[in-house]
Amino acid sequence: MADIETLPRTPPQILGPFYPFMHTPIEGGDLTNGGKAKGTVLHLSGRVLTDDGSPIVNAKVEVWQANANGRYAHPNDTTEPALDPAFHGFAVLHTDSEGRYAITTVRPPPYQVVPGRWRPAHIHFCVDSSSERLVTQMYFKGGQYNDNDSWLNSASRPELLIVDPAKNADGSQTATFDIVMMRA
Ligand SMILES: [Fe+2]
Repeated sequence: MADIETLPRTPPQILGPFYPFMHTPIEGGDLTNGGKAKGTVLHLSGRVLTDDGSPIVNAKVEVWQANANGRYAHPNDTTEPALDPAFHGFAVLHTDSEGRYAITTVRPPPYQVVPGRWRPAHIHFCVDSSSERLVTQMYFKGGQYNDNDSWLNSASRPELLIVDPAKNADGSQTATFDIVMMRA
């Protein structure tokens, strides 16, 4: 009998202070409001898998992030960067029969949490399968502040949370972020 391949589980990260509990997430994956949002468009997709490589079908994937100015649409974010009314910073979608999800968003920049303390650019995820809720964050290769971010570096394997987007001819970028969870 062949060995079952075991994929490394995606490390958890904290929920963070800007989970948008006061907002209703948009259904589906276009956070850019049809391209109206300011910023570099990022086509982000991936699969939600169990650690034996099986797809997790109909997993609920919540995504939230700062806009291209580095500002969350959250009352606790009192920093100076401007809100972007065209940007939906909170979305919910469900994986398909192959465990796939896909969003179109903009690249967030690093942001200042409190004066003098910066976080690297990241996107938050909360993924619910039938057996687990995984809260995590996705970062960008070479991101400023990646090396000294206490949350990213608290992960058992930080590299599993870092993507390296490809640049497209139209100025947008494309990245893949697979999420590996427990078997049911
Ligand atoms: Fe954040």
